[in-house]
Amino acid sequence: MEIFTEIYTGNSKEQLKKIPNNSVDLIVTSPPYADQRKSTYGGIHHDEYVDWFLPISEQLFRVLKPTGTFILNIKEKVVEGERSTYVMELIIEMRKQGWLWTEEFIWHKKNCYPGKWPNRFRDAWERLLQFNKNRKFNMYQEEVMVPMGEWANSILKKLSETDKIRDNSKVGSGFGKNISNWLDRDKAYPTNVLHLATECNNKNHSAAFPEELPEWFIKLFTKENDTVLDPFMGSGTTLVVANRMRRNSIGIDIIPEYCEMVKKQLQPIELYLFEPKAEYEKIKP
Ligand SMILES: C[S@@+](CC[C@H](N)C(=O)[O-])C[C@H]1O[C@@H](n2cnc3c(N)ncnc32)[C@H](O)[C@@H]1O
Repeated sequence: MEIFTEIYTGNSKEQLKKIPNNSVDLIVTSPPYADQRKSTYGGIHHDEYVDWFLPISEQLFRVLKPTGTFILNIKEKVVEGERSTYVMELIIEMRKQGWLWTEEFIWHKKNCYPGKWPNRFRDAWERLLQFNKNRKFNMYQEEVMVPMGEWANSILKKLSETDKIRDNSKVGSGFGKNISNWLDRDKAYPTNVLHLATECNNKNHSAAFPEELPEWFIKLFTKENDTVLDPFMGSGTTLVVANRMRRNSIGIDIIPEYCEMVKKQLQPIELYLFEPKAEYEKIKP
């Protein structure tokens, strides 16, 4: 089956209205953080961030399929020596919109810059918030399994007797674990911490994702021919990876130069461009 890419140039708040209801399987995005990068694409004051984002998350809720997932990469900044609370406020307001806050992944930035601050250490992680519309959503856990490695040889081989029988949950949740079940396996499920270096290649964008980041979530939450959306696509990392993995992709960015740049990187596939002047233009591969 042919896969497609759609690129919309403009403000996500408006451009998202052109995307049909319940048509997207996965949204992976990193919006501008509050007050960040004013010089390149405008910062939103941290007090106004929630009001700015909610009309966009309302549209994202509409376009996401009931089985779909929304991964939001965001981190609160430090304001006058304190962490700002806008991410927490945003989570609370998004829940009122109907979103379920199902999980939080941590992106551990393996290569963060060294530095010294008077009252904190260097910031080596960011949040990847997971939201869903339903408690049941598509998730292909086997696709992201990791090698057992040395863990199996060291810790698992020294198991106590209680570890070898099913250790039922003390709170009666019905969940339990039998660690010895994992002894002979080659692969284990990963944790919710992703250890990835920040993007080092010069991608002509100051805040590009490392490719492994959208790739991991695309594997976990989609199959071939599913549709992935990035409403703040920047250099288009999400689209390029989705394209390579044979997923349909949709990207939006307010800066026309970024849209041009993404267009040039994509493989020759069916590409639709939505620009302010030419509303619709089909580019032949
Ligand atoms: C943090 S960057 C995304 C980087 C991207 N993940 C990548 O890998 O290159 C955020 C992007 O959002 C775009 N942007 C900011 N406000 C926007 C809006 N209201 N609608 C659409 N795009 C917007 C900026 O131009 C910028 O490229």
